[in-house]
Amino acid sequence: MALTTLAIDIGGTSLKMMAVDEQDQPLQEREKQPTPRPATPQAILKTLEDMFTRQPKFDRVSVGFPGVVKDGVVETAPNLDGEWASFDLAHAIQKKTSKPTKAANDADIQGYGLIHGKGLEMVITLGTGLGSALFIDGKLVPNLELGHHPFKDNQTYEDYLGKRGVEKHGIEGWNHHLEEAVNLMRRIFNFDRLYVGGGNMHKVTCKFSKDVTISKNIAGLLGGIKLWEV
Ligand code: BGC
Repeated sequence: MALTTLAIDIGGTSLKMMAVDEQDQPLQEREKQPTPRPATPQAILKTLEDMFTRQPKFDRVSVGFPGVVKDGVVETAPNLDGEWASFDLAHAIQKKTSKPTKAANDADIQGYGLIHGKGLEMVITLGTGLGSALFIDGKLVPNLELGHHPFKDNQTYEDYLGKRGVEKHGIEGWNHHLEEAVNLMRRIFNFDRLYVGGGNMHKVTCKFSKDVTISKNIAGLLGGIKLWEV
């Protein structure tokens, strides 16, 4: 039986949702709603519940979350709300939809939608926060939180490359820091390929070497299907 997955991407700026078949084909247009503020679990679940009413029938759910997630339970949510700590996200969505649900870090899910499964593949996502993921021969090293590590001048990668970084340094400055950060990541991680994705990747103008691929943001949702295959 062909299964339909409802892929959800919880972001710091917007909540996205799309039902996809096993061939990665969307069953209808992606729905996007602003992330409610304060972005508490209750407020986000309420918005998602309303979005569910407009989706076609689905069999299972995948949720990408902007923080550390272990076994479906949230540990951190730096760009949402403190109330998320220890919140069982997979269980809460499963209760609302009555469908089996898996939840994981958003960059990890995005990575599943991008990688080819060979060598050391790394992913960074440019959005409200700075997401990062690492795969070795297709196997995920979960919850890599590069964004919160120092990059330079006592500021983190996320301070420079996340939404705050665009606002502070302007698009040109942000591109300059991005290029510098990618060169540093190459020296630290020695990736065979780096994928750059996320909602702000349309702002990327800097030129990368051949080992960097600019990706489509839709991977953040399509990777949700792969979550069911690992
Ligand atoms: C979080 C990551 C997340 C990234 C992108 C960061 O602030 O710590 O877990 O992947 O934002 O949403």
